Amino acid sequence: MKNNPWDNFSKNYNSQVTKSGDIYHKTYLNPLVLKLLGDLKNKKVLDLACGNGYFSKILAKKNAKVTGVDYSKDLISIAKENSKINFLHGSSTNLHFFKNNSFDYIVSNMAFHDIKNISKTIKECSRVIKPKQKLIFSIVHPAFYLTKRIKEDKEYFLKLKAYMSVLELDHPIYEGIKHYHRPVGYYLKLLFKNKFVVSGFYEISTKHRKGKLIKEPKLLKYKQEFPTFLVIEATSIK
Ligand SMILES: C[S@@+](CC[C@H](N)C(=O)[O-])C[C@H]1O[C@@H](n2cnc3c(N)ncnc32)[C@H](O)[C@@H]1O
Repeated sequence: MKNNPWDNFSKNYNSQVTKSGDIYHKTYLNPLVLKLLGDLKNKKVLDLACGNGYFSKILAKKNAKVTGVDYSKDLISIAKENSKINFLHGSSTNLHFFKNNSFDYIVSNMAFHDIKNISKTIKECSRVIKPKQKLIFSIVHPAFYLTKRIKEDKEYFLKLKAYMSVLELDHPIYEGIKHYHRPVGYYLKLLFKNKFVVSGFYEISTKHRKGKLIKEPKLLKYKQEFPTFLVIEATSIK
């Protein structure tokens, strides 16, 4: 496997994400994803592109039988520290360690937009998931990503630079890392091609906190109106 630029940021990433995830995981993503997963007792769960493994550890505490896979050797080493969870170094594009129909659930938080070959990744997800079971992934909402905030007539608007193109971009924080903009329909097309149906579609703005809709009049309206994250639940119909 080629040298992974994520290795250069493993310590930095680990210090930001900590044991319960960063502020975005904690506030917006984890509560929803955990609610969608429901009762995890004895469920076989793959945490794909698991990073430092913090979410795998949360799932294991809920009695799931978890396996975490990540392309960064260094993040996998960090994940393995003081843990009995099965953490594996590998790519989402070739999940050769697993037989067909191995998992009840596949979760992938904030990673599909960091994965270059998403087509092979979703194909592999389809292969290793059990029929009728769920793949749940969260990404930065692509429709509101390539935007700039502008103020006009005392109101904020988002000015959109691009949406329909598939683009390889420089990561805004981590130098040398690429990430990928794809329209929502691009992900949906791949899911349908690989025998998934979309069974849940959640657009998350600051109106959401810990899995609930909240009213916070002090928050800027544009922040409430434009979703930052998208969570998709896809059910296998293979
Ligand atoms: C933003 S981090 C998210 C990590 C973790 N899921 C979280 O929520 O903290 C993106 C992760 O994707 C991983 N990654 C990128 N390409 C990958 C691939 N082809 N296969 C597996 N992991 C990959 C990186 O190593 C990195 O850990």
